Amino acid sequence: MESGHIVLLVEDHETTRLTLADVMAREGCKVKGAATASEAMKALREEEFDLVVPDLKLPDGDGLTVLDECRRLSPHTPVVLITGHGSEEVAVQAMKRGAQDYLPKPLDLNRLRAVMEAAFRVRALHLENLSLQQELSRRKAETDLIGSSPAIEKVRQVIRQVAPTNATVLLTGETGVGKEVAAGSIVAQSERSMKPFRKINIAAMPRELVEAELFGYERGAFTGAFKMKKGHFEVADGGTLFLDEIGEMPLEIQVKLLRVLQEQAFERVGGTQTIRTDVRLICSTNRDLEKACKEGLFREDLYYRINVIHIHMPPLRERKEDIPALARHFLLQFRGPGGQVKELTPRAMSALTAYDWPGNIRQLRNVIERACLLCPGPEIDVAYIDEKVVRAAGQALARSVMEDGAPGGPVIPVGRTLEEVEREYILATLRELGGNKTRAAKQLGIGLKTLYRKLEKYGEIPGAV
Ligand SMILES: Nc1ncnc2c1ncn2[C@@H]1O[C@H](COP(=O)(O)OP(=O)(O)OP(=O)(O)O)[C@@H](O)[C@H]1O
Ligand SMILES: [Mg+2]
Repeated sequence: MESGHIVLLVEDHETTRLTLADVMAREGCKVKGAATASEAMKALREEEFDLVVPDLKLPDGDGLTVLDECRRLSPHTPVVLITGHGSEEVAVQAMKRGAQDYLPKPLDLNRLRAVMEAAFRVRALHLENLSLQQELSRRKAETDLIGSSPAIEKVRQVIRQVAPTNATVLLTGETGVGKEVAAGSIVAQSERSMKPFRKINIAAMPRELVEAELFGYERGAFTGAFKMKKGHFEVADGGTLFLDEIGEMPLEIQVKLLRVLQEQAFERVGGTQTIRTDVRLICSTNRDLEKACKEGLFREDLYYRINVIHIHMPPLRERKEDIPALARHFLLQFRGPGGQVKELTPRAMSALTAYDWPGNIRQLRNVIERACLLCPGPEIDVAYIDEKVVRAAGQALARSVMEDGAPGGPVIPVGRTLEEVEREYILATLRELGGNKTRAAKQLGIGLKTLYRKLEKYGEIPGAV
């Protein structure tokens, strides 16, 4: 039997408890003993067990209460009840309430072993199922392009059209805009969705290994090539290959890549046998490939070959209307261990929408993940949002006020007191003007004295008269 399982044994009769614990320990389990129901409840709240074995009769309650509590706190932990003579009826009831099995007294140790083994098997299945479900929703999230801005709608529409074809797709856009997510979405909607899908980041690979990784090698092709190895193009046969950062592809290998695209054929490194492959290619880059072509860093013929369908992923600052939906998506993703989903205060949300996000969606995701980790309560306010974001957002706010002439422009977020808004505008204006109070007062249309008084009230001028 597999060892390392943690068992909670709840039995008030000490000799029985010790005997059972001994048998379980011999099977490689770690046993925690409890003599009362309340002790058991405490243990259940503190720790997750692989198996819970309560006696039906306990001094301060019964095993069924322990069973119910365990089902509630840890639904994937099997419970096996120990029952006295003639309590078949209770045993049936326990099974109905979700017990895995029961052990009648006097205990038959062989039966105990068999029951334990079965319970651990069930638990392993439950856990496997859980992790598969998580993997599934992770993949779904990966292929779900969040957002409803016209820019992302257009991307989604092109993807829908080209996904079912075998056309090569080139994805461009700044870092973190979701090129990899888009690639996943293309594959998920293609006929190759159940076939191999390999992602290879050319930039993350040592240059001298790129050829061997992509096309494989024969035994003895180079020092260290002790046996033949298939490359990505061979393994992904029938499926899709995502070549991330294609702009980093060494020139000498670009010829070989061009040939695979034209003839669906290649040779392994050090080999002579021609291998045929049917692979759909999706490439991505945040480099300007046209410029690279002009500079002689990228083959023009290859560029035309991979640029059959070009999808440009817009930067987040050009589709700010998607920020709230994306933020909510990440709040859900980073929900707490108990499943609570945190919310952003209107203030925090307006800071997020005012910011320009040079690191795009990845940066937004990181900011929200951090806020979810740091913020203990259910509401995330600006204090938990990356300071850089809040500060830059404040400046953007002040700038748009100036450009729009007067406060009352489109960016005033609802849900704050007038005083809060006033304070933020004044401070933002000051920051924007490099702290020059005379100019700020003029800009704000108030007297210098008034400005000083307000700053003092905000605690911005400590000790000022
Ligand atoms: N539309 C979207 N909806 C939900 N999550 C997204 C979306 N776009 C991107 N993401 C998330 O943002 C992060 C960055 O996305 P991705 O890795 O696809 O960007 P990229 O364009 O490939 O970046 P790089 O150029 O740095 O490789 C990932 O965590 C991804 O899950
Ligand atoms: Mg990427």
